[in-house]
Amino acid sequence: MSKSNIIKVQQLSKHYDNHKILDNVNLEIFESDFTVIMGPSGAGKSTLLQNISTMDKPTSGKVIFNQQDLTKLTDKALSLFRKKDIGFIFQSFNLIEHLSVLENVCLPGLLLKTESKQQVIQRAKQLLTGLGLDAHMEQAITHLSGGQKQRVAIARSLINQPKILFADEPTGALDSTSGIEVLDSLTLNNQNGQTIVMVTHDLKAALRADRILFIKDGTIFGDRNFTPYNASQIAARRIEIESWLQEMGW
Ligand SMILES: Nc1ncnc2c1ncn2[C@@H]1O[C@H](COP(=O)(O)OP(=O)(O)OP(=O)(O)O)[C@@H](O)[C@H]1O
Ligand SMILES: [Mg+2]
Repeated sequence: MSKSNIIKVQQLSKHYDNHKILDNVNLEIFESDFTVIMGPSGAGKSTLLQNISTMDKPTSGKVIFNQQDLTKLTDKALSLFRKKDIGFIFQSFNLIEHLSVLENVCLPGLLLKTESKQQVIQRAKQLLTGLGLDAHMEQAITHLSGGQKQRVAIARSLINQPKILFADEPTGALDSTSGIEVLDSLTLNNQNGQTIVMVTHDLKAALRADRILFIKDGTIFGDRNFTPYNASQIAARRIEIESWLQEMGW
């Protein structure tokens, strides 16, 4: 069965002054895939993620979503797209420290204003429970561990049921155990159909991928599909993915 694309990137370039950071990138992201972006530091991974997700604007090229070129949207349409259709998680969590866990998760839902406050709260509680945070809903963000904060950020990113979840090194600031918990949460959501695009340096994170894009010098140097993640075959998977990454020069 062929997968349908959710995003189509055409001839995307990004320059800073005269420096080409992304050079003529063509790429499709497929629905329900867990796509991982890897590559050396400075290769352009974060820049690619930001330009696909409308957090930044390409110098040239198109990003097609729903038959629309996102680079051409008006500010109003762009703001709605960001609230409704994408979720974003960052290495540094970006939570609002003076709000509680539940308030952080509800906030994007209340800003979107398509549902009642009660509906938003109910879904936030469901998400937090699913992420193992039911005992922490009323807690202040400052009292949580890094792994708990990142799971709050995942719940917040999913509150408006986005079409795509983007993540830039979501385990980069976490210890190994918390990192695995966050990856398990992302995997579970992906298995429930959530499309995910994640940048990482971490092999353990890359093992969750259905597909890995290897970026080098601002272009896609490698693009390979893998069978969906299965915890019981982790050893063989690690060998397969690690040896491919080494071929790529990782
Ligand atoms: N706002 C900016 N102005 C000028 N140059 C920039 C800007 N943002 C990024 N760059 C440059 O673009 C290149 C790619 O940066 P990017 O952050 O995308 O790399 P990366 O692959 O995510 O690296 P890392 O793995 O270290 O996060 C780097 O050389 C960086 O210095
Ligand atoms: Mg980066």
